[in-house]
Amino acid sequence: MKKSALFTALALTTALTSTPLLADEQRAGEARAAIQEFAKSLQGELGAAMKAGGPTQAIEVCNTRAPEIAADMSKQKGMNIARTSLKTRNAKNKPDAWEQKVLESFEQRKAAGEDVAKIDHFEVVTNDGKQEFRYMKAIPTGEVCLKCHGTEIDPAVIGKLDGLYPQDTARGFKQGDIRGAFTIRQSM
Ligand code: HEC
Repeated sequence: MKKSALFTALALTTALTSTPLLADEQRAGEARAAIQEFAKSLQGELGAAMKAGGPTQAIEVCNTRAPEIAADMSKQKGMNIARTSLKTRNAKNKPDAWEQKVLESFEQRKAAGEDVAKIDHFEVVTNDGKQEFRYMKAIPTGEVCLKCHGTEIDPAVIGKLDGLYPQDTARGFKQGDIRGAFTIRQSM
C-alpha cells in the first residue's frame, strides 16, 4: 500500500515537472522556425535592395520593411517577434531588463567559445502573476552588415543614417560579432 502510494506520488511529480518542459521545448521549436522565416525574408529583401541600389537605398528596407515584416510575422505566428541589441540603431529596439541580461549572457557564451550562429535561450518568465514564454537568438555580424554597422561606413550612408537615427549606436561592429538578437514573447 505504502509502496504504491509512493509510486503514484513519484509518477505525479514526474508528470508535473516534465509536461511543462516538453511544452516549452515545443514552443522553442516554433520560435526557432518563426525566426528562421523572419530572417530569411529580411535577408532576401535586404540582399535584393543592396544589389539594386547599394546601402544608401537598402537603408529603406531596414528602416521600413524590417518592422513591417516583424509585425506581419508576429500576427501570422501569434507571437511578438522583434530585434534588439546591446547597441541599437533605433531606440525603439532597446532591450528590456530581461533582454539586456540575456544579451550579456550571449556575449559571455561567445567569449567562452560558443558558435554565435547557434546561441539561443528560452525561459518562462512570470510578470505581474502572468506567465510569458520568452525566446532569444543571437544574430551574427556578416560581411554585408558592415556596410551599415561596421567601422568604415561610406559617408553617404553615414549621412542618411544620421538623419534617420540621431541616437544610432549600432556602428563599429566587426565580422563575427554578435550584432544583436531576435526576440520573441508569447503569453501563455
Ligand atoms: C543598408 C544598411 C544596413 C545593412 C546592410 C544592415 N543593416 Fe541592420 N539596420 C539598419 C537600419 C537602418 C536599422 C534600424 C532599423 C529600425 O529602424 O528598426 C538596422 C537595425 C538592425 C538591428 C535591430 C537592432 C538595432 O540596432 O536597432 C539588427 C539586429 C540589425 N540591424 C542587424 C543587421 C545584420 C545582422 C545585418 C547583416 C546581415 C544588417 N543589420 C545589415 C541598416 C542596415
